[in-house]
Amino acid sequence: MHSLARLITFASVAVSLAECSGLVAPAYQGIPATASDPPDFNGTSTDSSSIVSTALQVDQKAGATGDAPPDQPVPNTTVTAVDGNLVNATIPNPTRRGLAEGVADSKLMRRNNSNYELVFWGTGTERNDRDASIEGTAYLTYTVVSNATYDIDDCLAFCDSVDGCVFANLYYEFFNPLLDFVFSQQSNLKCALYADVHTAAEKTNFGGQQLYPAPGPLNFIQQSSGWAAKSLVDPTTPPGYSQTFGPTNGANNAPGYMGFAFIDKYDVQACADLCDTRGADPVGGACEYFNIWRATVNGIPTTYTCAMYFIPSDNSTAVNFGQGDLLVTESRGYKRNNLIVDGGFEGYSCGSTAEAPFCFTPGYSAWQGTSSPGGNLDASIFNFQPYAHTGNAVALLGSAYGTDDLPGTLAPTAPIATEAGQSYTLQFFHSSFYSGEEAEAPATLEIIWNGQSVDTIHPGFAQWTGHQYTVTAQGNDLLQFKGGAAPAYVFIDDVALFPL
Ligand SMILES: *[C@@H]1O[C@H](CO)[C@@H](O)[C@H](O)[C@H]1NC(C)=O
Ligand SMILES: *[C@@H]1O[C@H](CO)[C@@H](O)[C@H](O)[C@H]1NC(C)=O
Ligand SMILES: *[C@@H]1O[C@H](CO)[C@@H](O)[C@H](O)[C@H]1NC(C)=O
Ligand SMILES: *[C@@H]1O[C@H](CO)[C@@H](O)[C@H](O)[C@H]1NC(C)=O
Ligand SMILES: *[C@@H]1O[C@H](CO)[C@@H](O)[C@H](O)[C@H]1NC(C)=O
Ligand SMILES: *[C@@H]1O[C@H](CO)[C@@H](O)[C@H](O)[C@H]1NC(C)=O
Repeated sequence: MHSLARLITFASVAVSLAECSGLVAPAYQGIPATASDPPDFNGTSTDSSSIVSTALQVDQKAGATGDAPPDQPVPNTTVTAVDGNLVNATIPNPTRRGLAEGVADSKLMRRNNSNYELVFWGTGTERNDRDASIEGTAYLTYTVVSNATYDIDDCLAFCDSVDGCVFANLYYEFFNPLLDFVFSQQSNLKCALYADVHTAAEKTNFGGQQLYPAPGPLNFIQQSSGWAAKSLVDPTTPPGYSQTFGPTNGANNAPGYMGFAFIDKYDVQACADLCDTRGADPVGGACEYFNIWRATVNGIPTTYTCAMYFIPSDNSTAVNFGQGDLLVTESRGYKRNNLIVDGGFEGYSCGSTAEAPFCFTPGYSAWQGTSSPGGNLDASIFNFQPYAHTGNAVALLGSAYGTDDLPGTLAPTAPIATEAGQSYTLQFFHSSFYSGEEAEAPATLEIIWNGQSVDTIHPGFAQWTGHQYTVTAQGNDLLQFKGGAAPAYVFIDDVALFPL
């Protein structure tokens, strides 16, 4: 009898709402007064052709040429292209997370106390022997070692001492006055270091420069050998991220693509910094995922791609293996960690019986809605795909039955596992179009962080829109969304908190 009585009450409410506005409340599976614009991810798939054509233009090859004295510090990773345009820029340096201190830079890293193996040998040192040194990607720095012998051990010890070094090119350079007279080491045996492994095919610097005043002899190279670390380790995962796949020979071909950068070495942390500082996409919001990979052209390392996405992915979409002579190698994916548990509400489901799921609840394991005193289901979670921004589930503020016009409050059931003092980006998507332009005009939404109001928005009638705020954590933080006064309903979806 009780349930019948409730049914009748609900039915009469539905009729009364319908009478005044034609609107059916969400709890009765009402259809929004205006159609939702679905998020338009058209044209947001990886633009592989732009990556490939830029990779064929960029020149990241370098070696121990020029005037630089030996033993210079390794330069910071630089960006060589952004979204198809060649540039020469440093990585923007975001406020580093506390955890980042002391974390080694991550590149193609060699194992500790590594042994090296010979990749190619040199021509010898006879009068007429001529050779060439490497010009390749991910050049780090060089030193000169004593030329009393062909001192391979000293060169490899130098590689061991430089972070990120996995390859050394050892060679004599003759008729370079800087080596002969200027630099204090008084040696012409150069040891050039790289953060990637190169082959004899990349011996392209034959000298031939007029370094002594004319008519002095041109410089030349002899006995150029290459040594690679025998074993490489996985790069360190940047703080605030989780690795989703790799290494494989497939780059992601996935939706939610925001653009790419080329960097001058395989530096996972640098790619994470680019993702952190990439401006939000107007449709998809913040960068939440990156795919780093090495491009080889005819087997020669050419550039290191950092592709950024607002939708996380994994190896299921890592299906772009290259194009023509360009191959994808060393591809890894990293997802930005979201501190909000089930920020998309997808953990709330209707069970397996329903064909087209429709159900709602005041709360479940991850989120809890609270009504105003005297209110009736003023904050709730719906599993009903037409209401959701992405996926099937979404949160609703405003009486789900349309029986009162009081605001509801939605909050995670547990405090957020933040790090005190750390700044975070809070991101969420909101819509207020359910009841149509007139009825939604007074829609409001307040964002509350540890009891303090961060902002109150008065969006009126609005399609799904992303919002971002910077908040500072005190540890075990409390987040609340308050608003919605039926029929000025407010929906919330895809809540995220990323360390800055
Ligand atoms: C995406 O593009 C296709 C083909 O141009 C079109 O049929 C589809 O409706 C578009 N989807 C959205 C969400 O705009
Ligand atoms: C690298 O960047 C850091 C931070 O911006 C800066 O302090 C440092 O001097 C740079 N190192 C080099 C070798 O340019
Ligand atoms: C990039 O800029 C730096 C500093 O201005 C300069 O030393 C370097 O030669 C430039 N590299 C290229 C490839 O233009
Ligand atoms: C190398 O070995 C030292 C000492 O055992 C250790 O502290 C360090 O973490 C190791 N580094 C790597 C990259 O494994
Ligand atoms: C060693 O290097 C110095 C400086 O370039 C040069 O003068 C000398 O001839 C070299 N010795 C040998 C054995 O190559
Ligand atoms: C993705 O990785 C998983 C686990 O490493 C593996 O089982 C699966 O075959 C991979 N899928 C693709 C498409 O490579």
